[in-house]
Amino acid sequence: MNIKTTNETLENINTQAVIVFIVDKNFNHVWIKHKKALEAANFKGESEEAILLLEDGYVYVGCANLQPDELRIAAAKAIKTLRQTSYKSAKIGSYIEDTHSMGALIEGFVLGSYEFTKYKSKTEPFNLEELIISADSYNQNKISLEELQNAKETAYIIANAANWAKDIINTAPYDYTPIQMAQDAQKLTSVEGVTCRIFDEKFLQEQKMGAFLAVNRASVHPPRLIHLTYIPKEKSKKRVVFVGKGLTYDSGGLSLKPSDYMVSMKADKSGGAAVMAILKGAAELKLPFEIHAIIGATENMIGGNAYKPDDILTAKNGKTIEVRNTDAEGRLVLADCLCYAQELQPDLLIDMATLTGACVVALGEYTTGVMGYNDKLKHELYRAATQSGELVNSLSFNRYLKKLLKSNIADISNISSSRYGGAITAALFLDNFIEESFKDKWLHLDIAGPAYIEKEWGYNQSGASGAGVRMNLYWLINQQGDK
Ligand code: BES
Ligand code: ZN
Ligand code: ZN
Repeated sequence: MNIKTTNETLENINTQAVIVFIVDKNFNHVWIKHKKALEAANFKGESEEAILLLEDGYVYVGCANLQPDELRIAAAKAIKTLRQTSYKSAKIGSYIEDTHSMGALIEGFVLGSYEFTKYKSKTEPFNLEELIISADSYNQNKISLEELQNAKETAYIIANAANWAKDIINTAPYDYTPIQMAQDAQKLTSVEGVTCRIFDEKFLQEQKMGAFLAVNRASVHPPRLIHLTYIPKEKSKKRVVFVGKGLTYDSGGLSLKPSDYMVSMKADKSGGAAVMAILKGAAELKLPFEIHAIIGATENMIGGNAYKPDDILTAKNGKTIEVRNTDAEGRLVLADCLCYAQELQPDLLIDMATLTGACVVALGEYTTGVMGYNDKLKHELYRAATQSGELVNSLSFNRYLKKLLKSNIADISNISSSRYGGAITAALFLDNFIEESFKDKWLHLDIAGPAYIEKEWGYNQSGASGAGVRMNLYWLINQQGDK
C-alpha cells in the first residue's frame, strides 16, 4: 500500500473509498455525508467503532479526540475495515495541523495493515493500493512540505521497524533458530553504517559465559551472541547499547513449563527482535548516536545434558549462580550479555526481555515494566512511550527484595525465595551483573506482557506486537534535542 500526501482539498481527490473519522458525536462536520444513515444504523462514533457504507464507499471510524494515539487506533481500524472490500484507493482529510498527527496517522495505517501470512496456504488479497492524505490544512498552518515529508518518513521507518520485529517473533521455533536470528542480523548490514559480528559457542567459552552456555546445553541448535553496531556519519554524541533476550524457544528446561504456559514461548525472542529492530530503525533514521544491539540467542530445552536445578554456574564476571529453577533462564543469558555490553563503555545501557510472568501479573498484559536506578532516564522513557502509544510503568527496587536472591551455596540464586515481587527480583538479579559505574546508565524493560497478544487491541493484531521498538525509537529521537 502506497501512502501519499497532497495539497489538494479532500473534495478534489478522486478515489473509490473515503475514510472519515468521527470526533463530533453529533455528526457535524463537512466530511460527514451520511448523518441519517449513521443514526439509523445506531452508530455512536465511539472509539474503535467503525462502519462501512458500501454504496458510497465511506468508512466512518469513531475517534474520541485528536490525540496522536487515538488517531493511530482510528487509522488502523479504517485499514482493517477496508481490508474486507475490493476498493483499490482511499482518501482521508487531515484532522489536525501538526507533524505529530501526520506521523501518528501514518503509523496507524502501517501498523494496522500488518498481517502474518507465512504459514497460510490461502490468503485474502489486500486490495487497497493507494491511500491519499489531504494535507490541505497544513498549508494554512504554514508547515513546510519538507517538515511534513520528514514526519512521514520517520513514521514509516518507526512503524516498519515494529512490523519487521513482529515477523521475527511470529515465526515458528522450528524455523527460527539462533542461527536464523544471526542471519537476519547479518542482513541488516545492507543499511548504511551497520556492521554485524556473530559469535558462536567457542567464543562464549573463551569469554567464560557459563550462564549463557548452560541455558543452551540441551538444545540441538547452537547458541549465537549477535552484536550489531551502527556508527553514524557525523560525529557521534552518545553511545547507546541495547541488550535483548533472544530465547528462540523457552520450554522451561527441566523445570518444565505446563503445556498451556509453553504455547507462545516462541515469543521469548521478543527482546532480541526488538533491539535488532531499534538498531535498524535508528540507522535508517540516520540518528547521530553510536548504537549497539547485543542479542543472546538460544533455546531453553530438556535432555540428558540439560542444566539442572542445583547446578552452580559461573558468569562472565566471575559471580557464581545457584540454579534453583531452569525456567528463570532469561536472566542467565542476559547476565553474560550485560557483562559483555559494559565492556563497550556505554553512555546508556538498556536491556529488553520477556523476563517474568510476574510483570504481567503486576502491570497487566498491555504494559511494559521499567526498572532501574536512574529516575530521569525512567521519566524520559515514560515520555517517549506515551508519544509512541506504548504503555509503560515503573516498578521500584528496594533493599528487602534484593536480599531474597541470597544463596547458601553460591554468590546468588537465580530465583527469589519469595513468590511475590518476581519482576523486581528478576531485575535485581540482573543488577548483580551491572558494575557500579553503570548503575545510573542502565534501564531494564520487562516486555513479557505486551510482547505477544492473545486477543487484538488498538492497532495490534493477535500475535507479536513489536513491543519496545517504537518507544525506544521515539526516545532516541528525543535524545537529539536533549543533547
Ligand atoms: N519467558 C518466561 C517469562 C514469560 C512469561 C514471558 C509469560 C512471557 C509470558 C521466563 O523465562 C520465565 O519462565 N520466567 C519464570 C521465572 C520464575 C521461574 C522465577 C516465570 O515468570 O514464571
Ligand atoms: Zn523461562
Ligand atoms: Zn524465558
